[in-house]
Amino acid sequence: MANKGIFITLEGGEGVGKTTQAQRIESYFTKMNKKVILLREPGGTKTGEKVREIIRETKEPIAPITELLLFSAARKEHIEKIITPHLHKNYIVICDRFIDSTVAYQHYGRKIPIRIVKEITQLATDGLQPDISILLEMKFQDAIKRKKEELDYLEKTAMQFHEDVLKGYNTIIKKEPKRWIKVDANLPKDLITTIIINKLEEMIKKIQ
Ligand SMILES: Nc1ncnc2c1ncn2[C@@H]1O[C@H](COP(=O)(O)OP(=O)(O)OP(=O)(O)O)[C@@H](O)[C@H]1O
Ligand SMILES: [Mg+2]
Repeated sequence: MANKGIFITLEGGEGVGKTTQAQRIESYFTKMNKKVILLREPGGTKTGEKVREIIRETKEPIAPITELLLFSAARKEHIEKIITPHLHKNYIVICDRFIDSTVAYQHYGRKIPIRIVKEITQLATDGLQPDISILLEMKFQDAIKRKKEELDYLEKTAMQFHEDVLKGYNTIIKKEPKRWIKVDANLPKDLITTIIINKLEEMIKKIQ
């Protein structure tokens, strides 16, 4: 059965405002009386939330391949149990991070060969791709100043890593520009929301 809903993902580095904007997009569609669900990765299922705890609360560094497999395991559960069923029910599914995070962090950041990242990702997603992805673009040094909680191990990794991740996102966008909305995450929250909503409406019209 073909997916009928719309699958929107939010991407970008740490603390750039993904969750803030994901919630605002959800409220916008709710007010428009659309069926909408907001999800996050890793997470979304009991298994996924446990994986999230392992990744976020571990005090020791995790091997890049372990990280790739953990994120992918959570994603497989998320897609099968929540994302695909909601798309089939015609929902707008908003996901705070998805496969582009894996390519940006695990390939461009951690340098796992793209062949391996793609193969594992394919295994987890069975080819499911977002219809629209939003990149909130901001330098790590600026984003980190916004965060109130203690930094986790991913956030403490070297500056070069975060620069590689952002460059990675931009390389992904160049290969597939039509799928993306890229916004300067330094702008005020309300302006970012307006830019995203206007562009989303325009892109959704083209999809439907
Ligand atoms: N455009 C903005 N201008 C100023 N502050 C912002 C903006 N967007 C978000 N913030 C603030 O920055 C902090 C991080 O935002 P948020 O949690 O939405 O980012 P995130 O990308 O989801 O972070 P994480 O990577 O930790 O999940 C919050 O305190 C939020 O209120
Ligand atoms: Mg967040």
